Amino acid sequence: MPKNPWINISTPLPGPKAQAILEQDQKYVSPSYSRPYPLVAHKAEGMVVIDMDGNTFLDFAAGIAVCATGHCHPRIVRVIQEQAAQLIHLSGTDFYYPQLSALAQKLAEIAPGSGEKKVYFGNSGTEAIEAALKLARYATGRKKFIAFYGGFHGRTLGALSLTASKPVQRRGFGPLLEGVTHVPYPDCYRCPERPARDSCHPACVRVIEDQLFKTILSPEEVAAIVFEPIQGEGGYVVPPPEFFDELKRLSRQHGILLIADEVQSGMGRTGKMFAVEHFGIEPDIIALAKGIASGLPLGAIVARADLMSWPPGSHASTFGGNPVSCAAASETIRLLEEGLLQNAAETGQYLLDSLRKMMDRCAIIGDVRGRGLMIGIELVKDRNTKEKAGAWRDLAVHECFHKGLLILGCGENTLRLMPPLIVSRAQADVALEILEEVLLEIGGKDIV
Ligand SMILES: Cc1ncc(COP(=O)(O)O)c(C=O)c1O
Repeated sequence: MPKNPWINISTPLPGPKAQAILEQDQKYVSPSYSRPYPLVAHKAEGMVVIDMDGNTFLDFAAGIAVCATGHCHPRIVRVIQEQAAQLIHLSGTDFYYPQLSALAQKLAEIAPGSGEKKVYFGNSGTEAIEAALKLARYATGRKKFIAFYGGFHGRTLGALSLTASKPVQRRGFGPLLEGVTHVPYPDCYRCPERPARDSCHPACVRVIEDQLFKTILSPEEVAAIVFEPIQGEGGYVVPPPEFFDELKRLSRQHGILLIADEVQSGMGRTGKMFAVEHFGIEPDIIALAKGIASGLPLGAIVARADLMSWPPGSHASTFGGNPVSCAAASETIRLLEEGLLQNAAETGQYLLDSLRKMMDRCAIIGDVRGRGLMIGIELVKDRNTKEKAGAWRDLAVHECFHKGLLILGCGENTLRLMPPLIVSRAQADVALEILEEVLLEIGGKDIV
């Protein structure tokens, strides 16, 4: 691999300073975190993370799709510093400050849908989902929800009741929320009925109407359908357009709200501000977090104004929408609008096209899919049987780390690329080169 200005691995990984932190972490930190490789960060800038021992890595994971504007973007750092020197906290639940209302106005203006909208702020994705669930129940007077297998919506008990991504996330934590029914999420790559890439078998998207509503669930009891426009943790699965047509139809016909979980897919990641814009759907409630404030904790829901009829005191959070996070979010949106959205669309398409060409050379790539910089590479043992290559995927994540490229997995056997939206074509080329090298190396390995 030719030298590039971003990657320099000069110690064994983990290096000695990293090793000391790992030992401390192991002794004192909750073992519930799932770290795929021992990266111990010291600092980061732009697309590069520098570890405790001075090794530098090219970041295609962005702190799990959070650092939208890259690490420590100078403009984000500046607004954080200025805001921190002025007002760190007051609690938007009890008092007013302009950073919160200005961000609410901006989010309401840019969210899909022409009607008026209002915004509620929390601190994380899971809190955004909790707020969405409570608002949907309150506004409709209905109790039940429909969610999708493979979906990930967070880990607090309400959101966890929707999450159906891995058994370990739920095991031992029940009972969960009553009245949540899961149905399959359309996965075109694994659809047995799909003869050609651009055709869709209607049975898959009609499962709610044809099976659920005819057997165990009355539509008039359903408050909302909660969906990820592109499934994230579940494997970066992009549904067919017919899926969204069906959601719209069900919503109109039965008065069911549509809650789009855009925690991972939102804020420019897919090359549009919200992933639902790719599919022409205007949800009643959109949940946001992750990339919204370039790394500061912030979650939000943007909802139809007429739904936000809940009275003072009914829902709030002490820290939600603190001034520093709100200032960082407003600056993040400015940066997205000034060019990062476009870069996400263009560099994302370049990556997708290049990865599809890579399929000719790497037999273990079964499918490449995504929008913008939300890209999944599904690994299989055999393209005909589509046998999932979970162990190869784990090994690929690990090997990329050792070659200086930070990526993560999702689903059982998929690699995901979710770099900061500042990624350049030259950096994309380095990542592609490492990926190809790694996938060719492990393709022949005899592991299960
Ligand atoms: C689609 C989606 N929803 C919700 C969440 C939960 O967000 P948080 O970890 O901030 O609670 C995540 C986190 O990965 C997510 O990807």
